[in-house]
Amino acid sequence: EKPVTINRLHKMKMDGEKFITVALYDAPMAAMAQKTGVEAVLVGDSLGMTVLGYDSTIPVTMEQMIYHVEAVARGNKKSLIMGDLPFMTYATPEQALTNATRIMQAGAHMVKIEGGAWLVETVKMLTDRGIPVCAHLGLTPQSVHKFGGFRVQGRDEARAGEILDDAAQLDEAGAGLLVLECVPAGLARRITQAVSMPTIGIGAGDGTDAQVLVINDILGLTEQPPKFSKNFLQETGNIPGALSKYAEDVKSGAFPDEAHTFS
Ligand code: KIV
Ligand code: NA
Repeated sequence: EKPVTINRLHKMKMDGEKFITVALYDAPMAAMAQKTGVEAVLVGDSLGMTVLGYDSTIPVTMEQMIYHVEAVARGNKKSLIMGDLPFMTYATPEQALTNATRIMQAGAHMVKIEGGAWLVETVKMLTDRGIPVCAHLGLTPQSVHKFGGFRVQGRDEARAGEILDDAAQLDEAGAGLLVLECVPAGLARRITQAVSMPTIGIGAGDGTDAQVLVINDILGLTEQPPKFSKNFLQETGNIPGALSKYAEDVKSGAFPDEAHTFS
């Protein structure tokens, strides 16, 4: 099997074939994801909460992201590797370029940034210079204090319209992928049909082109797991089995079901 490229993921969207993403942070998990055939891995700034013990992703630094991207890149030579730009490291397009360069040089194939229309210029700046961008809309955790907590986004017409418009503008600007986090399933489905880039849902129902879960949630390591996540270790009893079952259930459409979806 050849390494997964952004082109492959776009083709899978065209063909209506779901792909699998896992947020993970170290070499052995990255290697296991490769073995499972996971198409994309995300070195998420969620590592601030899942690995480092912070209450949010806000304290995460570039140095921490680079350390973990390097580890994941050493462990996995097949999946498409995405790296998050952490809080306030892409406040301007120039800052984004400087910091995205470091994430790419650490071994990522794509960077992810949180936000809507205000990032249009940044997406152009990066993609024009050869750095593909994954956008992230809905519950963007770096804005937790603006939202007043980790809350579902887009339940009212106004906010839903804003997210839909953001998605269209980022697509037009050249974003290559879009993560949709904690939005109603109907909204995620509408966005997925409206944009050319593949969408990756987390707490966004089964209408997206792909799903992403955090490895800690898949393995039952999270004290108070979010409604949309699922412990696949419980039903399989071992880590390779849990990853395979997650992948299998996404491909078949069994996950996410109603119980793990916001309507
Ligand atoms: O940081 C992260 O793990 C993420 C995913 C949950 C999408 O951004
Ligand atoms: Na993140």
